[in-house]
Amino acid sequence: MSDLPPDVDISRPHPARMYDFFLGGKNHFAADRQTAQAVLANAPTTLVTARENRAFLGRAVRYLVAEAGVRQFLDIGTGLPTTANVHDVAQAVDPSARVVYADNDPLVLAHARALLTSSPAGRTAYIQADLRDPAAILAAPAVREVLDFSQPVALMTVAVLHFILDEHKPAAALATLLDALPSGSYLAASHVTGEHLPAEAAATTRTYRSSGVPLQLRDSDEFARLAFAGLDLVPPGVVLVSEWRPEGSGPRPAPAEVNCYGGVARKP
Ligand SMILES: C[S@@+](CC[C@H](N)C(=O)[O-])C[C@H]1O[C@@H](n2cnc3c(N)ncnc32)[C@H](O)[C@@H]1O
Repeated sequence: MSDLPPDVDISRPHPARMYDFFLGGKNHFAADRQTAQAVLANAPTTLVTARENRAFLGRAVRYLVAEAGVRQFLDIGTGLPTTANVHDVAQAVDPSARVVYADNDPLVLAHARALLTSSPAGRTAYIQADLRDPAAILAAPAVREVLDFSQPVALMTVAVLHFILDEHKPAAALATLLDALPSGSYLAASHVTGEHLPAEAAATTRTYRSSGVPLQLRDSDEFARLAFAGLDLVPPGVVLVSEWRPEGSGPRPAPAEVNCYGGVARKP
């Protein structure tokens, strides 16, 4: 890209661009590809993880609009625009749905226009922000303008919490965000795990960390406690993302291929 924002450092890998590579997208640079290839060398199932996680995101958004009646989304850790972004899925069910996207990768900002193609009846906005600073997210003018905090909001943290180390207090960040939302709001979250392939997961963690990307994999109990304490989990609860309200009757991948848990819960 010729018009990269000045704060995009392409000499270092970034999780948004590595994920884009795993999904078969085009928005990555040599450093991202190199680190992603190193991850795949030890854990080739990462491709399945990325695909199944993205499919979970789509099903969760559809559920939230079509069945839970939610019309507003705050999607933190958006990733680079790809097919079936949150507003694409939500507005296909209800064109009036409103979505604010937030990501800490400045490259996502460069692509934000693709994220801002709302249906005329709805709204979309994008902010560059960090999940570790939830107060800044809540105070952002775009968030206040687009979302009505007197009505339910679905907070989305899909495949992002494993980039927040315990020392950066991910539970407190979620609590701050959820405290700002009214009863009847939802949290949809997913999290990569090392439970099923411990050796490969340890290698993946080393690869990310040695290239400067923090990564902390958690097991299903740790994820459930971190994300959903105090919320009412929607059935089937915290399960492998591939097992969360699957569509169709085709075969689904094995746990050791998926390596990612997901869930959706309602704020009482
Ligand atoms: C694996 S992608 C997930 C994208 C999308 N949510 C999905 O599940 O398809 C993780 C995203 O989280 C973003 N991210 C990582 N750490 C973050 C942080 N501390 N604050 C905000 N975004 C972050 C990355 O830039 C990347 O876009």
